[in-house]
Amino acid sequence: MTAQSIISKRVMTLKPSQTLAISARAKALQQAGRDICSLSAGEPDFDTPEFIVEAATKALRDGITRYGPAAGDPELREAIAEKLTNTNQIPTNKEEVLVTNGGKQAIYNLFQVLLNQGDEVIIPSPYWLSYPEIAKLAGGKPIAIPSSPEDGFKLNLNALESAINPKSRLIILNSPGNPTGRVVPINELKALAEILRRNPNIQVMTDEIYEYLLAENEKHTSLAAIATDIKDRIFTVNGFAKGWAMTGWRVGYLAGNQEIIKVATALQSQSTSNVCSFAQRGALAALLGPKICIEEMSTTYNYRRKLLFDGLKEISGITLKEQKGAFYAFPQLPIGNQDSISFCKLALEKVGLAMIPGTPFGEETCMRLSCAASNETINDGLKRLKLLFNSLY
Ligand SMILES: Cc1ncc(COP(=O)(O)O)c(C=O)c1O
Repeated sequence: MTAQSIISKRVMTLKPSQTLAISARAKALQQAGRDICSLSAGEPDFDTPEFIVEAATKALRDGITRYGPAAGDPELREAIAEKLTNTNQIPTNKEEVLVTNGGKQAIYNLFQVLLNQGDEVIIPSPYWLSYPEIAKLAGGKPIAIPSSPEDGFKLNLNALESAINPKSRLIILNSPGNPTGRVVPINELKALAEILRRNPNIQVMTDEIYEYLLAENEKHTSLAAIATDIKDRIFTVNGFAKGWAMTGWRVGYLAGNQEIIKVATALQSQSTSNVCSFAQRGALAALLGPKICIEEMSTTYNYRRKLLFDGLKEISGITLKEQKGAFYAFPQLPIGNQDSISFCKLALEKVGLAMIPGTPFGEETCMRLSCAASNETINDGLKRLKLLFNSLY
């Protein structure tokens, strides 16, 4: 008997993370004494704001260390419902909210609850690399809808609507987007809502985890806020990881149709139970506390995003439209060399620059660079990339 022969078919189809492969190689080179510059981070480089840490520490000291309700701390659910109602303009009550182990578990739970074997999940591409894998784990079939780097990855809504057939069950929206950083404008959200109205059997999952990371004067609009008539078919995923620099805390949430939330809660109660009780008290403090910390981090990302975009645009051969959200740039390689996996491997070996190839995000001709790094690191990365481009093209 081999280990391979006893692994379930369901899990066999999972793709190992190519993001981790590059990071592991970068680390190995660093340990071997190489000078490595990394623009590969997928998380804030800030510490969690002090008042949030204080609230969780106090909770630990106060004995908030036991099991809690599977759906989440009632006060936190209430605060999330209020935030969705008042800030996102999505009328929500506490029963429509499930607190999860990060945004990722919100997506996992939703897909498990909504998808049957062979159901199609329509995913605009480039996409966050976990969507197709989580869909497949739930028996779903990911259907990618490509968009083009030349026009800044505008949603291809005609192609999206044409892909809808009786097997289609779910559409994924992610704005601001990872890996592109694109903020979906309100006219596209309205057009998507029209598609939903024409297709009453389709549900939508909208992942808004980067909602606070926006360029100056840019506004985040939630899909459910502009389509309250079909709100029961729109599931909002969000979390504390990116806006409040709380990636390791593992607190996120799923909001939408109360009946579905009830079933997702039952699923969670039989898998992970409640989210860490004192981490939830930290999340509650984040929601109720001052928002200045978010604004400060966002201002810093805005400066760095511009630095990264301006630097990349100076490199001839790169195709890139400036984006207004998250902390990524997703430039396209010059025609003739569009294999981003080979390019990112070469960049790491030749100039010691770590970037993430676009292939696992559904676009093999692009690569993801992160500005969740200091100005010096970004400038250093740009210098190395220029050097490599000069030697190749
Ligand atoms: C688009 C997107 N959605 C969801 C997540 C998951 O976030 P969390 O850490 O809250 O699980 C990430 C994390 O990188 C992400 O980029």
